[in-house]
Amino acid sequence: MSDQIEWWRGGVIYQIYPRSFMDANGDGIGDLKGITQKLDYVADLGVDGIWISPFFKSPMKDFGYDVADYREVDPMFGCLNDFKELLDKAHSLNLKVMIDQVWSHSSNEHEWFIESRESANNAKSDWYIWAEAKPDGTPPNNWLSYFGGPAWTWDTKRKQYYLHHFLREQPALNIWNTDVRAELIDTARFWFDMGVDGFRLDAMHQYLADPLLRDNPARTDGSTPSDLPPENPLSMQSRTNSANHAGTIEWLNIIREISDEYQDRALMAEVGGEDAAQVAANYVQASDRFHFAYTFDLFSCSYNKSDMEALFKNTEEVIGTGWLCWSNSNHDVQRVASRWYPGQGNQSDFNYQASILPMSMRGSYCMYQGEELGFKETDVPFEKMQDPYGIEFYPEFKGRDGCRTPMAWDHTEHGGFSAVDADGNLPEPWLPLSQQHIEDNVSWQKEHEGSIYYRMKKYIAWRKKEPAMRTGAVELIESGEENILAFVRSEGDDHIMCVFNFSYEEKIMDQKLLKDGQKLIENISSAVKVEGDQITLMPFAVALFK
Ligand code: BGC
Repeated sequence: MSDQIEWWRGGVIYQIYPRSFMDANGDGIGDLKGITQKLDYVADLGVDGIWISPFFKSPMKDFGYDVADYREVDPMFGCLNDFKELLDKAHSLNLKVMIDQVWSHSSNEHEWFIESRESANNAKSDWYIWAEAKPDGTPPNNWLSYFGGPAWTWDTKRKQYYLHHFLREQPALNIWNTDVRAELIDTARFWFDMGVDGFRLDAMHQYLADPLLRDNPARTDGSTPSDLPPENPLSMQSRTNSANHAGTIEWLNIIREISDEYQDRALMAEVGGEDAAQVAANYVQASDRFHFAYTFDLFSCSYNKSDMEALFKNTEEVIGTGWLCWSNSNHDVQRVASRWYPGQGNQSDFNYQASILPMSMRGSYCMYQGEELGFKETDVPFEKMQDPYGIEFYPEFKGRDGCRTPMAWDHTEHGGFSAVDADGNLPEPWLPLSQQHIEDNVSWQKEHEGSIYYRMKKYIAWRKKEPAMRTGAVELIESGEENILAFVRSEGDDHIMCVFNFSYEEKIMDQKLLKDGQKLIENISSAVKVEGDQITLMPFAVALFK
């Protein structure tokens, strides 16, 4: 592959949720030193980089997505020196490091907010979105929060409402304000100067909303947004006024200018909300916008041929010169081994297929920790639940604890997630581990060649060396079978045919799908039988030909 290709384009990025990766100090919560200890494992998987979810100072109401100081590490995770060590170790292993930047809102314990709520005329009074109540005392408009209830909370001190698209402890920053922008730019420089390779910009579609605070209209077309469960009443609104204001582009341009002052840095936009694919495409359309966008589209897509084909077509229609990052699991959604698994058929073949498909699509790929091990969603009992989103909508929607439970490194108690504390005691982890995860732990899988970990690792190594898979074009091919998805990835004269059998039935593959001389790539294909000329696709087959 040419050295000219940017590291993030077509790369595989491993997402680390720091609370749940590795607990080096024995308090039941993961930390930066724990991540550093396990970086060899991550590098050994063959990925190009890591994205670490927030580890900044925070009261942890939304587990770090409520930042109280953008340049300090929360003591729970360690200190800035621990982060520098992590960065150095990652770089020595050729891993790029992306960190989360949560700029749509801060914590209500951030000193900016504490000052802002003091009065309507102090230096920071306009750093958040404040508004008068309606004459009857109700909030200024009908906007709803993602996590339940109105997007407005009354502040008794200022006697005004403030906006929060998420928890009331996450007041929305006023990004129209140039002083706020200047602070965020300084924050970006602080991390870039330290050597961080890129940012994942949290909830970008929530950066700027209608300054006139007009109501959102009701959603009338019967569609469901990709980032919300149907139990959430926000899904009944069309967020045309509360999100994704056109002014966001100008702000994107400024952030891009800053990152371009440094070499090889990458900006990845997290885009949800209305019409997420179109918005994502818009944020990455030109060289003065972001490098790539993280899309939620696979989270709402059903696992069948027609939905996947529709997704491919829609993406190719809107993406233009932009670039996407696919993902099938993260710290916000049910794990794919539970979400897409249809309830019958070989789970391991299914897990392999459900990860190889998005890694074969045109784009980069974010692999959430534990996906390489085939982890299913953990069933966390109500009394152990931590996520305020899940507690609010329980039991119909159980929130995000089930995908956030700690990694299982070995078969010992709590999966070897925690070291013993200073007194030699093993702590209870902040969320319980599932038995399945402990059985399918890292050490066991590393010792067994047939394990999902082993198979994924082989695929990642192969994909890295194939320009067609990393950056090539994509073309859907009609397979002639109801539940067989086929597409070709191409770079110049190099064509790789990718065929996925979603059904539980064996199917004989139509040879016409192959170009002359194309052969099955045996060591990374799965659930495929070749007898003479006949190729049989077993349930959940992954068949790759070159
Ligand atoms: C993050 C969530 C978080 C929310 C608010 C999301 O996009 O991934 O975990 O709760 O932003 O910051």
